[in-house]
Amino acid sequence: MTALLTATDLHRSFGFTPALAGAGMHVDDGEVVAIMGPSGSGKSTLLHCLAGILLPDSGSVRYQGQELTGLSEQRRSALRRSDFGFVFQFGQLVPELTAEENVAMPLLLARVGARRARCEAGEWLERLGVATVAGKRSGEMSGGQAQRVAVARALVSRPRVVFADEPTGALDSLNGEQVLHLLLEAAKETGAAVVLVTHDARVAAYSDREVIVRDGRTNGRIPAELGG
Ligand SMILES: Nc1ncnc2c1ncn2[C@@H]1O[C@H](COP(=O)(O)OP(=O)(O)O)[C@@H](O)[C@H]1O
Ligand SMILES: [Mg+2]
Repeated sequence: MTALLTATDLHRSFGFTPALAGAGMHVDDGEVVAIMGPSGSGKSTLLHCLAGILLPDSGSVRYQGQELTGLSEQRRSALRRSDFGFVFQFGQLVPELTAEENVAMPLLLARVGARRARCEAGEWLERLGVATVAGKRSGEMSGGQAQRVAVARALVSRPRVVFADEPTGALDSLNGEQVLHLLLEAAKETGAAVVLVTHDARVAAYSDREVIVRDGRTNGRIPAELGG
């Protein structure tokens, strides 16, 4: 079987700081993969390379058989909009926009009509239990509400892969657990794979598979037929 997304032998430095030193992992269709490891080990850098946000210095990232590192920034950006969703730790909602406008944004960028985009955004807010904040801006919401809105925005365009970098890191444990449940449930319903960066072992319990990152390397073995 060919993996949906495969990273092989990634190297990436920031100046003289090596962030990735031979990391590799794969993601199959619809599975939940937790990326774990100490702070500074390279988890976010790995996620950014997988998602085509950051180019590695060397190594390969293949999505549906296509080499991402060979694509222009414009093509990678178009791919991110059409196929990927993102949830970060905090601060990712556009503060000038209401919750509903934030969630509608990916649909508008995909040229979905404004009325339909609003309608679908409303449905997603409802599904995540935050319909009451539809007209509010992020400054008027709690952290947990804002993160639910962010999950709605990540899933509204029905991505093939949702990338979540410590999505519960800024929440108390009860809220964190609820947001994580909602994220994974929604991903399962829509068939999206989830790549979840976390240093919380409880979070990893929800995953199908774990990849451990240490000093820019992964323990996640890549099957030989995928080039690992
Ligand atoms: N934009 C950046 N500029 C400089 N150094 C960076 C940058 N991003 C990451 N690093 C460094 O790369 C290493 C890995 O960082 P990161 O991938 O963010 O780790 P993690 O997400 O596991 O905490 C760290 O030493 C970090 O300081
Ligand atoms: Mg990080």
